[in-house]
Amino acid sequence: MQLVEQRLGDAPDALGLVRGRSVSIDCDDTGNWSRQLEKVAMTLFDLTGHVAIVTGGNGGIGLGMARGLAAAGATVVLAARNTEKGEAAVAALAASGARSAFLALDVAEEGSCRAMIEETVARFARLDILVNNAGTSIRKPPESYTAAEWHTVLDTNLTGALFCSQAAYPAMKEAGGGKIINIGSMYSIFGTSYGAAYAASKGALVQLTKSLAIAWAKDNIQVNAVLPGWIDTELTQGARRHVAELHDRVLTRTPAGRWGVPEDLAGIAVFLAAPASDFVTGAAIPVDGGYSSMGA
Ligand SMILES: NC(=O)c1ccc[n+]([C@@H]2O[C@H](COP(=O)([O-])OP(=O)(O)OC[C@H]3O[C@@H](n4cnc5c(N)ncnc54)[C@H](OP(=O)(O)O)[C@@H]3O)[C@@H](O)[C@H]2O)c1
Repeated sequence: MQLVEQRLGDAPDALGLVRGRSVSIDCDDTGNWSRQLEKVAMTLFDLTGHVAIVTGGNGGIGLGMARGLAAAGATVVLAARNTEKGEAAVAALAASGARSAFLALDVAEEGSCRAMIEETVARFARLDILVNNAGTSIRKPPESYTAAEWHTVLDTNLTGALFCSQAAYPAMKEAGGGKIINIGSMYSIFGTSYGAAYAASKGALVQLTKSLAIAWAKDNIQVNAVLPGWIDTELTQGARRHVAELHDRVLTRTPAGRWGVPEDLAGIAVFLAAPASDFVTGAAIPVDGGYSSMGA
């Protein structure tokens, strides 16, 4: 026990807090502490028995994160509009041994968000993790947006995250806590001349994240945002078709020297969904190969 205390000496409360939450560390007198610490580390990232929803989880970044959550032990509900893609994604998760299901969802419809959350709780008896990932973009100069186009982007990327979070709140509160992960963007930080609606929605999503984090901290619900860099998905394939030089511009500007892949988001999703992040809330974390750290 002495060795464990020495190792955690810089943070004297850490062991106690972990114990209080979900991990019991039981060091014996034979100096078997390293195996016990290993167990703590594993439990910090263990999602066994937890139920997660990933909106827009039927492909792209959503499916990349769903794979991570499932690998950590969670049951994962993929919720989106395209059923064919959804069923293919569920089959892919099932092939790796995960328990998952597809539910139809249009995040722009409040009733659809409520129905999807209710169906999840009815089927799986709880809800621990909500990933607000569904997103869209309409690329054009700001002066030419119609009101309908503007609302489509804002309703999907921002208001949909609010609707789903509102619908999830009672179940999480009743369960004694939960995790909400909102998917922002580099455009949560930067502006763009060809995606004003997208940038406005993703910037506001970070402020919504902070506001929910503050409001629901008392309920042990942590709310954080992830800001992906440039990731190779259907969304960015569309952007690359639209802006010919985009592919090379991203490569030049990204210190890691590559585009991201959806699985690059799996680790942060597990961290923010797991007990490891119980004292992290209201944060907006870039996962971007260094893109947002790069100056001119
Ligand atoms: N790729 C990147 O470089 C990048 C960078 C930063 C942030 N992001 C964000 O990451 C998230 C995922 O994007 P992605 O790149 O993985 O693109 P994607 O493959 O096009 O995925 C977008 C997902 O959103 C879903 N969706 C869109 N509108 C919806 C609605 N009204 N209701 C329910 N689901 C809806 C789509 O489902 P359906 O197939 O059913 O329409 C799809 O699964 C988005 O929020 C995006 O803004 C992406």
